[in-house]
Amino acid sequence: MIEKTYIEQRPISRSLYEKAMGLFPGGVTHDIRYLLPFPVYIKEARGSRKWDVDGNEYVDFSMGHGALILGHGREEVVNAVRETVLRGTHYGGSSELEIRWAEWVKKLIPSAEKVKFTSSGTEATLLAVRIARAYTGKSKIVKFYGHFHGWHDYLIAGERPPWDVDPMGVPYEVLKTVVVIPSDLSVLESLLSQDKDIAGVIVEPTGGSWGKVPIPEGFLAGLRDITRKHNVVLIFDEVVTGFRWSPGGVQGLCGVIPDITTLAKILAGGFPGGAVVGKGHIMDVLGFGGYEDHRRAKRVIHQGTFNANPVSASAGIACLEIVSTGIPQKEASEKAREIRVSLNEVIRLQGVKGCVYGESSVFHIVLGVEPVNFNGGDIRDPGLPIDVLKSGARGDVCRLFQLSMLVEGVDIFHMGGLVSSVHTDEDIEKTVRAFETTLKRLKGEGVLD
Ligand SMILES: Cc1ncc(COP(=O)(O)O)c(C=O)c1O
Repeated sequence: MIEKTYIEQRPISRSLYEKAMGLFPGGVTHDIRYLLPFPVYIKEARGSRKWDVDGNEYVDFSMGHGALILGHGREEVVNAVRETVLRGTHYGGSSELEIRWAEWVKKLIPSAEKVKFTSSGTEATLLAVRIARAYTGKSKIVKFYGHFHGWHDYLIAGERPPWDVDPMGVPYEVLKTVVVIPSDLSVLESLLSQDKDIAGVIVEPTGGSWGKVPIPEGFLAGLRDITRKHNVVLIFDEVVTGFRWSPGGVQGLCGVIPDITTLAKILAGGFPGGAVVGKGHIMDVLGFGGYEDHRRAKRVIHQGTFNANPVSASAGIACLEIVSTGIPQKEASEKAREIRVSLNEVIRLQGVKGCVYGESSVFHIVLGVEPVNFNGGDIRDPGLPIDVLKSGARGDVCRLFQLSMLVEGVDIFHMGGLVSSVHTDEDIEKTVRAFETTLKRLKGEGVLD
């Protein structure tokens, strides 16, 4: 029934998907957009809302995959980009814009003594691990189960279950350089005591997938102590959390300062862009040392046609100036909290198993499983196994949940959402109603108890 209504309301999306199937493997341009029977095709977005090609309106919780904390089409960002585009989109050279952009990053992110721009978050983490290896002269990187750092070969292992299946297409030799462990400081301590070929440890400082898989309290401070003791480079992947958890990211809130940080998303104000930032003496492996013949052998190479391109730089400058106040983060976080609390109340009233949890301006949903820590209200960690948290629900529940929320005019992202500073009370009310209707439907269709 859910699926039937979804299809009936979206004839144009359906026909676009038929074309897309002949153009893109799997029919989509990002794995997360894969949805059966077909995804919605968006043609316009403004503020907290977006509209599909069939004229359906949605409250958007994908928000540019987390890039748009200020909402769609923020005036200052659009104006900055418009002005820049008229003066050229790529100068094939250095520009004052890249200086101003880097100055904002340095001002806001505590670990940013030096900055290197990339074109995406994936490129940023790829460069970060290369820097860690070059700086230490060691080869292995430690990461944690369930943490996502982009799709490149060096960090894709252990991102999602099943844990014992190697990611297809990644050479075995590369996989041997990545050690995936649980978020357990004693496991890390014993690993670093035994294995002397570890260059760095990378972590999503909220836990995997922006807190979907929470880390224990005190974990970051423990990580800092252990990595310092063993002379291992500590990398915070703040691609999602940077400028969102606070103007200075998670590190700006908790005071634990990594050696290297990776950034993207909000960094470029909704345009493509990433960065690696960190301590000067480590980042200097990218420097030239004044000797041209030191290239390759003595320094880390880094190129990229669109690094610090003027369009992304001007959007980034406009966005960072606004988020530097901390006000958008506060507004978004208050709304996200309201969403978590209200949706938990719906779960309780509907008598289904599940919970909504998270922190800062995000929320995560688990359905069909009774959380250990559920006491209603606002929870950070439901205390459930990582496999359950990572998937959000069993079997077909996720898909039907997403379809039903779309039918009700709400676009949920990854069994959760990223809230912006421009989401309104009306958006929240609509989301709560959609959630209630959806749970009733899922119960009615016998897929949720
Ligand atoms: C924590 C984290 N790191 C890295 C990435 C990769 O960033 P991008 O999609 O810009 O390549 C993502 C993407 O969502 C991410 O969430």
